[in-house]
Amino acid sequence: QIYADSEQASVAVAHQIAELIRRKAAAGQMCVLGLATGSTPTRLYEELVRLHQQEGLSFRNVISFNLDEYYPMRPDSLQSYVRFMHEYLFDQLDIQPENIHIPDGTIAQEQVAEFCRRYEEQIRAAGGIDLQVLGIGRTGHIGFNEPGSGAASRTRLITLDHITRTDAASDFYGEENVPRRALTMGVGTILEARQIVLLAWGEGKAAVVKRMVEGDMSDSVPATYLQQHKAVQVVLDAAASAEL
Ligand code: GLP
Repeated sequence: QIYADSEQASVAVAHQIAELIRRKAAAGQMCVLGLATGSTPTRLYEELVRLHQQEGLSFRNVISFNLDEYYPMRPDSLQSYVRFMHEYLFDQLDIQPENIHIPDGTIAQEQVAEFCRRYEEQIRAAGGIDLQVLGIGRTGHIGFNEPGSGAASRTRLITLDHITRTDAASDFYGEENVPRRALTMGVGTILEARQIVLLAWGEGKAAVVKRMVEGDMSDSVPATYLQQHKAVQVVLDAAASAEL
């Protein structure tokens, strides 16, 4: 789906998510959302907040699972995804705090494997993810599944790619301050979502969007594994679609 600009695209996706939440609520069901961070979904989250505040969209039936978090990372750090999600979204909604799940960047190294196993278990216990929002990194990562991440990978601790750390450098006031690792849902975890919406804006994403959509499926561009999913939408602005 190619929109003239990211503004129109973000609003359209927000409305699609709102409809899903309302449909689930009308059926007396919880709506399980997989959520992403980064600059890409900020306008989408702003529109969801507007729909809550001005049009009565309730998030009381929403359970959320975030894709990833830097490791190590304190939740109150400027760059933490916990802080990001609360600032842009959760603090302005009526979502129940116990329904929010974000990988814990403070977990001790020896407890990471158990934490990741439990994260997957919580997703399953919630009934699986109804709709997963994704951005894409210039390395072709989804979540923090860097090149080399296989289609069957699960939630785990990974090492960040050099390009990803360069892209995050300005957020951390220098590349040397960017954590070397991160916790992320796996490609396999993401592919189990019933519906996936990947967003990409701007000319900086055009090359990786082309590789994701038109390239062969391979772990050198983990986002290519989305090609095998039955219900994936790729939502682009004109600039991000320029090389297709
Ligand atoms: C980070 C996040 C990804 C995100 C990517 C793109 O690596 N872990 O989930 O998709 O950045 O970021 P941006 O949206 O700022 O371009």
